[in-house]
Amino acid sequence: MQEIEELIEAMAPSDANVLIAGESGVGKEVIARAVHGSSERGGKPFVAVNCGAIPENLVESILFGHEKGSFTGATDKHLGKFQEANGGTLFLDEVGELPLDIQVKLLRALQEGEIDAVGGKRPIKVDVRIVSATNRDLSLAVKEGRFREDLYYRLNVFPIEAPALRERKEDVPALVDAFVKRFNIEEGKSVVGATPEAMAYLCAFEWPGNVRQLENAVYRAIVLADAPYLQPHDFPAISGVAPPAAPAERPPSAIAITPVGGQLMPDLPQAVPVRILDERGHLRTLEEIERDLIQLAIEIYAGHMSEVARRLGIGRSTLYRKVREQGLEDVIKGSSDEAVDESDAQVA
Ligand SMILES: Nc1ncnc2c1ncn2[C@@H]1O[C@H](COP(=O)(O)OP(=O)(O)OP(=O)(O)O)[C@@H](O)[C@H]1O
Ligand SMILES: [Mg+2]
Repeated sequence: MQEIEELIEAMAPSDANVLIAGESGVGKEVIARAVHGSSERGGKPFVAVNCGAIPENLVESILFGHEKGSFTGATDKHLGKFQEANGGTLFLDEVGELPLDIQVKLLRALQEGEIDAVGGKRPIKVDVRIVSATNRDLSLAVKEGRFREDLYYRLNVFPIEAPALRERKEDVPALVDAFVKRFNIEEGKSVVGATPEAMAYLCAFEWPGNVRQLENAVYRAIVLADAPYLQPHDFPAISGVAPPAAPAERPPSAIAITPVGGQLMPDLPQAVPVRILDERGHLRTLEEIERDLIQLAIEIYAGHMSEVARRLGIGRSTLYRKVREQGLEDVIKGSSDEAVDESDAQVA
């Protein structure tokens, strides 16, 4: 994000049209507002239009305005978005959704600096900078004939690629901090931040919904938070960890299962993470993690050691050796009751 900020600063004096490309929720509108705010038009209007959300038959009148009586229902004269944005910036979100006939009119507006209102007698001068955004590959739309090439070059004078959050995970801590501050104020909370462990989960997650999804996750966590620091269980959607159940429902021996690389774990009965990080956020050793994993597997498969070995992908004799080395014999006794296989009992 800092690279994009530098880019925005560098082009602040320029009046060139900007095309922002990026997945949904990456912050294209945030970037568009920053472009506007840092430009000389900063004090003038910023007008946003979601081109994908307007019914096709209304696009022209919404963008360019209409005269009274120009079509059924046009009971009043209406200023279009171009005129609203006059002197400032018009943000055309999802610009790839514009119908081809409107693309022609938009091109004319950009080339001539004037627009024709629907039913208007004379063209109207406008001075507008266009910042547009697309969450699809607009150059592909050009190749496929769905978007005019000449318009594409007019809009894409200054391209900005807004990377997905998973490609800039180093942004996650700063975003989380910013959201914590904001939601503290909005929700009257005094959360200090996220624990290193929680932050590690947040940084490991892939965030298919990008910054918007992270923002929602932090919001939810803050609303429900009852401790000064946000914990992994405050982010159930990403950690696969259910919010703490009533103490009686969770056996004290249960260990926690955490997702690796943002993958969700299947819903396991009382399962909690096999932690990969210690309280200070450092990696735990293989031996420690292995011990927890074996213990968890024994609990999940109720002491059926053949199944445990199969699930862990090791031989049974190796499993029993590890159980001895890690001092886990008691776990087998504790979780197996009558469930232990005959053969297991012999080997044990
Ligand atoms: N750098 C950032 N700092 C703070 N908040 C951000 C940042 N980037 C995005 N957000 C927040 O994430 C949410 C999504 O951002 P925005 O609406 O700009 O995304 P978008 O790319 O336009 O998404 P869409 O394609 O779905 O319209 C917003 O609520 C915005 O406030
Ligand atoms: Mg948007």
